[in-house]
Amino acid sequence: MANNYGDNPPLSYNKYLRVQDLINLQDLLSTPAHHDELLFITVHQAYELWFKQILHELDAAIQFLEEDRVPAATRAIKRIVEIEKLLVNQIHILETMTPISFLAFRDQLNPASGFQSMQFREIEFSSGLKDKGILGEFSSDEFASGRLQARMSGPTLADCFYRVLQRRGLTAPLASVDADTAQQKKAYEERTRAALEVLTHFEERYEEFQLTEALMEHDEYFSLWRSHHIKMVERMVGAKRGTGGSEGIGYLKTTLDKKFFPELWEARTYLDINHGKSGCPFAH
Ligand code: HEM
Repeated sequence: MANNYGDNPPLSYNKYLRVQDLINLQDLLSTPAHHDELLFITVHQAYELWFKQILHELDAAIQFLEEDRVPAATRAIKRIVEIEKLLVNQIHILETMTPISFLAFRDQLNPASGFQSMQFREIEFSSGLKDKGILGEFSSDEFASGRLQARMSGPTLADCFYRVLQRRGLTAPLASVDADTAQQKKAYEERTRAALEVLTHFEERYEEFQLTEALMEHDEYFSLWRSHHIKMVERMVGAKRGTGGSEGIGYLKTTLDKKFFPELWEARTYLDINHGKSGCPFAH
């Protein structure tokens, strides 16, 4: 049909968002196509898109912290937390699939597993949980290896946070990778003490306090995702081994205590209304 736009049709919603490409990205493996496999793929792809957005915000927050722009970093982290709230709930959509429906196409997924989610590992690394052992799992994937190596050598949210506290007069050292166990322990205790200082003097250090609260929430909701994922996995496949080859829920339970900012949690243990006065074991 003739129009007034010549060879350049106006921008449309579908064109801008590449909806045609997007809705063609769900390739089912089951034949005949199993009704629930589309849900399984859609949920995972939606996670990966949100992971991309979380990484975008994480990189911004890291940059802001390096520039000592604490309120801007706090805002970016709060956005991450809102996304994570959605991601915790999103896991339950999969529970509308019956376990027997899932088994109908589960075997075809072997040996693929969420364990290999590159972006999930990137979020862990850049938040503060770097694990060299994970890199080996990606050795046959050049694209993922490159990205993970870059994150492994880049700054983390945790490092940048403690650098902010250092610039603001607190002793919050980052132990070097070559430091021995005693040095690591000492640095950890000093960082915990710095966190305690922020918690105690939250009015005087309101910017730092808001930042620590946002970081805690990021840690908390990431961990809540882990708990909800395990419960969903157990409900779906019981104690079966994972498609990625792990023990399944046995392995997943070992990840529950992982923390990006353990010092922030630990500081709560020592919090005391007498902090700073004699009698408090953590007093300066
Ligand atoms: C029916 C649905 C699901 C089942 C049965 C399931 C099962 C499992 C199992 C058994 C593992 C352990 C590794 C293995 O041996 O495979 C695992 C790991 C993992 N899954 Fe899922 N999963 C499901 C859905 C999801 C979804 C929707 C995501 C979202 C991205 C996801 C992300 C992950 C991640 C990131 C890990 C690695 C966790 C870690 O190592 O800390 N999974 N999953």
